[in-house]
Formats: sequence, structure tokens, C-alpha cells
Amino acid sequence: MPGTCVIGLQWGDEAKGKLVDILTEDHDIVVRYAGGANAGHTVVFGGQTWKLSIIPSGILREGVDCVITGGVVLDPAKVIEEMDGLESRGLRMHGRLRISDRAHVVFPWHVVEDRLLDGSLSDGGAIGTTGRGIGPCYRDKVGRSLAIRLGDLYRGDFRDKVAHVASFKNRLFASWPTNSAAPLDADEIHSRYAGYAERLRPYVVDTTAHLLDAVEAGRRLLFEGAQGALLDIDHGTFPYVTSSNSSGLGVASGSGVPGRWVDRVIGVLKAYSTRVGGGPMPTEQDNATGVHIRERGREYGTVTKRPRRCGWFDAVAARYSARLSGVDELAVMLLDVLGGLDELRICSAYEIDGRRTTQFPSQIGDLEKAVPVYETLPGWREELDAVRSERDLPANARRYVDRIAELIGRPVSIVSVGPDRAQTIIRDPEATRRPWHPQQPANA
Ligand code: GDP
Ligand code: IMO
Ligand code: MG
Repeated sequence: MPGTCVIGLQWGDEAKGKLVDILTEDHDIVVRYAGGANAGHTVVFGGQTWKLSIIPSGILREGVDCVITGGVVLDPAKVIEEMDGLESRGLRMHGRLRISDRAHVVFPWHVVEDRLLDGSLSDGGAIGTTGRGIGPCYRDKVGRSLAIRLGDLYRGDFRDKVAHVASFKNRLFASWPTNSAAPLDADEIHSRYAGYAERLRPYVVDTTAHLLDAVEAGRRLLFEGAQGALLDIDHGTFPYVTSSNSSGLGVASGSGVPGRWVDRVIGVLKAYSTRVGGGPMPTEQDNATGVHIRERGREYGTVTKRPRRCGWFDAVAARYSARLSGVDELAVMLLDVLGGLDELRICSAYEIDGRRTTQFPSQIGDLEKAVPVYETLPGWREELDAVRSERDLPANARRYVDRIAELIGRPVSIVSVGPDRAQTIIRDPEATRRPWHPQQPANA
């Protein structure tokens, strides 16, 4: 039975969590395949707000199982804290949550390294990471010699491994001029992590085998993307990216489930752009429009609480991400946030060194130089938060959605008008082929 995949097409925080929660109804297992505690996914229903970081959003739906695969970097303290928080609100983890023994473990040295190294790009710039040790953990994974996977925590030589890595890291950090952290205490770290290992023991399995058995048995998988395609380590705005394949390309390598088992890829977009941390963002609005979006959209980071950078919708970037992730259809989220603006802008091309292009640049220097070419569309004054059907959307809102679909070349099947599960317009497959605004020409 083929599966579904939900991928953020911008720089993260596209409301993937909300969409995954809605789609879990039609799936048996929700799978996280990349990233770690850098993610913050918010789900709202029944007057309650849930914040998830590493545990898939499917955990909120009774009867749905959740899997954290080996592509994830796992901070055991964070996952246990999240499990405790969910259990205290009445959710059952046992028998529903599985964590890969292949997942690489985030240790205190990764967090120290993240803080020491961010701000050390060759030009002195900062990526503006979440400080959760994500990059250093993935670096040790690729480097192999200093890597410790979850399965290693149950081996007899775990203490020796911790001592070996801690002594190496202590020497490395001591040589770093700005380091003021106390040396790592290998014994303390070992005993703390041995405690985590015991707590997690019932959940740790070979998730690759589990998922392959599941798809072959006809169970429906839903892959929950973290971050966004523009933060992909290989295809994003390098070096201002995260350290995993956060685009759709990471599904197979992160989970061990071949791409042939995914037959529906939904690209999730905000109706505008946001970005947290460093790196170019051509459509950024460091002005009243940016403030309007930030305040109406409550654009402050879930993980770090940083104000998100806000700007107009960038169709050049989104089209690139949609193609990269093999997207079949689009979900346009937070459309309500744009209400109250007289005019809306969509970036449909860049000008780089005086040349107009619709191709997203592979080099950061070119993206830094990109001047957006905007189209202007009429805005709407109505509040959308109570809208539940497409015919109740203002004509200009429907026109705006159609233009996004047209520029990206994929149909919009879902529109979100508020954080709550209910504040969503979902089209049936037949309607999805038609434009949202009847006067508009049909999408290609
Ligand atoms: P994720 O990381 O992609 O899951 O997204 P986040 O949860 O970090 O950020 C999305 C934010 O927007 C959350 O606070 C959601 O509750 C909120 N949200 C989701 N959909 C909508 C919407 O349609 N309108 C508004 N106003 N807020 C939304
Ligand atoms: P969700 O899943 C938004 C950004 C960080 C930083 C860069 C690298 O909630 O959409 P890292 O700590 O990963 O090394 O930071 O990536 N970033 C995110 N931005 N949403 C996220 O996750 C993010 N995860 C990482 O702000 O710019
Ligand atoms: Mg988020």
C-alpha cells in the first residue's frame, strides 16, 4: 500500500505539523525521517495546543503508530521530556512509538560544539542554528570515528566509547580560543545516558525492518518532513541550511523505505515566506509589511522563540523546492495572515546581475544578489478564520491561491485559514483539478 509524504517547501515552519495531524486519519504509521530537536511542530484541536519536536505528530491520534527512524539525530533527554509531557496529558506511548537503534545520539559535546562553531563561517557569519547539536551530531555520523548510535548504548563497551569520545572532544574544545565551558565529565555523561537508555529500551527497535514489514503488509505510511526543502544540506541554500536531507529526497535514505512506496507527495507552503537564522531571503520585508505578517502570523520560533524573518511569497524558490521534492499537490497554509493588506506581492522571477531568471541559484552568492521581480495582486479585508469552504473565500484570496498554483505548476488541494484542525479547506481530487477562482484559466 503506497504512502504519503508531507514536505515543507520553504525554510521550515510551513505548518507541516498541522497538516500531518489532519492526514493521520487515513494512515497507520507516521514516520519522522530526518532532523532532530531543531524541529518544532504545532498542532491545535479541541481548544488544546500541542508542541512536538522529535515525536511524530501522529502520536496525537489514537490508533496511529509512530516511528523515529535512523535518519534522525536523537537527543534522548529531549525525547524523554517530550514523552513525559505527552503522557502527563493522557497519551499512551507504549506499543505506539518505535525509535531506531540506528539513530545517532546527540551528546553534550555536540551542543557545546554547535555553540562554539556557529559564527565561524569563513567570513565570520553565523548560520544561526537552533543550538541543539544537530550539525555536530551529523558531522560525527559522517566522520564515523566519534559516532555513537542508539543501539551502542546497550553494548558492553558503551562506557569506553563515551570515555574515548569525551577525551577527544575535551582536547578539541580546550584548543578553541572562545571556549569557556568546563571539561566534559565522561563518567557523569555515561551514567546519565545509561539511565536514558534504560528508559528508552522498550521503544528501541530496527525500524527499517519494521517499516519494510509494514508496507509489505499493506499498512499506510505517512512521512512527516521536518525543516524545509530550502534547508536541505545538499540542495538548499548552503551553507545556511540544516545538516540533513530535509527535502523529499531524504525520505528513502532517512527511513530505509524506498521511494516507490510513496505515491502522494504534498508540498506545504506558507502563503508568504519566513526564515529563522542566517542566510539570504530575497523577498524579506524588513518593514511594516514584515511586521504585519509577523504579528498576525505569530511568527516567533517554536524552538528558540526567535522572531522569524517575514516576507512576500517567493514562487521561484517554491517552484524549485516542489520539483526537487517530486511534489504532486500543494497545501497553502496561513492564508488568513495576509488579510488586511491592500495589495499582495508574489516574486515570480529574480534579477541577478541584471539578468532575469526563474531558476533558483545553486550558489549562495547569486542568491544574495537576487533582486525579486514582483507581481502585484489585490488583497482582501475579510477575516478568513471562520471560512470552511472554498466558495466562502473572498475572490481575491482564491485568485491569490490560483496564482501560486500556476507559478509552481502544481494544484493546490488544501488551504488553511487558522491553526485549528477545523480551520482547513480540503478539496476532493476532482475539484483539485479546477482553479479556485472560476474566472482564472485552468492550471497546466
Ligand atoms: P511546522 O514546523 O511546519 O510544523 O510549523 P510550526 O508549527 O513551527 O509553525 C506554524 C505555526 O502556524 C504554528 O504556530 C501553527 O499553530 C500555526 N498555524 C498553522 N496553520 C495556520 C493557519 O492556517 N493560520 C494561522 N494563523 N496559523 C496557523
Ligand atoms: P521545523 O521542522 C525553521 C534552521 C535554523 C538555522 C538552520 C540550521 O519546525 O520546520 P540547525 O539547528 O538545524 O543546525 O539550524 O536551520 N532550522 C529551522 N528553521 N524550522 C525548523 O524546523 C528548523 N530546523 C532548523 O533556524 O537557520
Ligand atoms: Mg516549526
